[in-house]
Amino acid sequence: MSVPCRGRVVCGALLTYRDDPARVGLEHAVLHHLRGAVAVDSDGRIAWRGRAAQLPARFRSLPVDDHGTSLLLPGFIDAHTHYPQHRMLAAPGRDLLDWLHRFTFPEESRYAAPAYASAAAEVFLDRLLRHGTTAAVVFSTVHRQATEILLAAAERRGLALVTGKTMMDRNAPETLRDDPASGVRDSEELIERWHRRERLRYAITVRFAVTSSEDQLRAAGELAARYPDCHVHTHLAESEREIAAVKRDFPWACDYTDVYDRFGLIGPNSLLAHGIHLSERECERLSQAGATVVHCPTSNTFLGSGLFDIERLRQVQRPVGIGIATDIAGGTSYSMLHTMGEAYKVAMLHGHTLGAHDLFHLATRGNAVQLGLDDEIGCLEPGRWADLVVLDPAATPVLQERQPLSRQLEDTLFALAILGDDRAVRATYVAGRKAWTRPGTNGTLGHLAPGAGAPLVAGARH
Ligand code: GUN
Ligand code: ZN
Repeated sequence: MSVPCRGRVVCGALLTYRDDPARVGLEHAVLHHLRGAVAVDSDGRIAWRGRAAQLPARFRSLPVDDHGTSLLLPGFIDAHTHYPQHRMLAAPGRDLLDWLHRFTFPEESRYAAPAYASAAAEVFLDRLLRHGTTAAVVFSTVHRQATEILLAAAERRGLALVTGKTMMDRNAPETLRDDPASGVRDSEELIERWHRRERLRYAITVRFAVTSSEDQLRAAGELAARYPDCHVHTHLAESEREIAAVKRDFPWACDYTDVYDRFGLIGPNSLLAHGIHLSERECERLSQAGATVVHCPTSNTFLGSGLFDIERLRQVQRPVGIGIATDIAGGTSYSMLHTMGEAYKVAMLHGHTLGAHDLFHLATRGNAVQLGLDDEIGCLEPGRWADLVVLDPAATPVLQERQPLSRQLEDTLFALAILGDDRAVRATYVAGRKAWTRPGTNGTLGHLAPGAGAPLVAGARH
């Protein structure tokens, strides 16, 4: 059970997105107040947000966390990551399949032991919070118990988590294989117990077509039809050798997307990690289905999988929904800031420039929209959960030296995306409760002075 929040006001340089800046332009999308405030109610939801000087009288007696000139944003959302890979960052494989067999499968096999899984779940979730990530879509292992352990640990923290037991019945060590019947039985029991409990959601999770038989894909599709409210989470078109294996194993399919599609796994709730090597037909089909392809830049460069072409997927005549994610531990950083920076570089290698607002939108409201959770998270609007991240634009000497170059908000955001990491995260709030504070940060600075428009906290330390 999550820890209750008793209401508070959080102040800082407020930034949130009302819409997608890449689609509607900055002036319609960006909401920014240099001295902003978010009032949180006792349930942990946003009761009000706006200029600090205009804070309504009814919130003035609440305790205040004043973060001065630090940026106050919705918490980051990581749209694809793996909790059982948290001990194996920087494991070098020749490519995806080599990396899976050499490092990943042996490590995931250890999650049969509840103590091993428990320790990992605690560290993994705390690490998300330290990096300013307040919601995530997470791969577990094939083990039902390891998945329950993660769900319970997320529930204790009050986190918004989308996860599910991995289904995989072939091309993996025996210790990591289920079968079509047990995979569905375990998944269904987990859905009944955990889906929509507190802030948790269940994702019907097929690892990828390489590790599932046709019987298993069919069973997963039937499960998705029985639970249309659950997400479907898998990997798609990440590496050349993977695609060749899928072609060999499913000769009747016209392409990789078609394999999932024929079994009912492509739809508006589908989250498909990578999607680097997609044909025009696949883009059209994914666009038509309203599915989401999740860009994982640090993973794609680390495993040599390829360079995701975000502009191509966004083509207006058949836009494919796009999320952004770390993909720990194909990915090499928990930081969504670092992930944005790498997405920028990958786009540059295709000759495209991604603006800083575009990147920050992707990691907050953009991911929330793709997950269908934008009524709950991703922006600072009344009624949404008060999941917040506070970013210090001068967190490190290098960022400090870079600051004079920043003439406008976009410059500051860009520097954070290229140079920032967990050191830039001053505080993280989950449902209004402070879940992480950078050591040495002076957080709660008192109560607001009574009277309309009174200065918030004189001499607030930054
Ligand atoms: N494809 C199938 N499994 C995995 C995985 O664990 N990581 C990545 N990056 N791709 C995958
Ligand atoms: Zn992955």
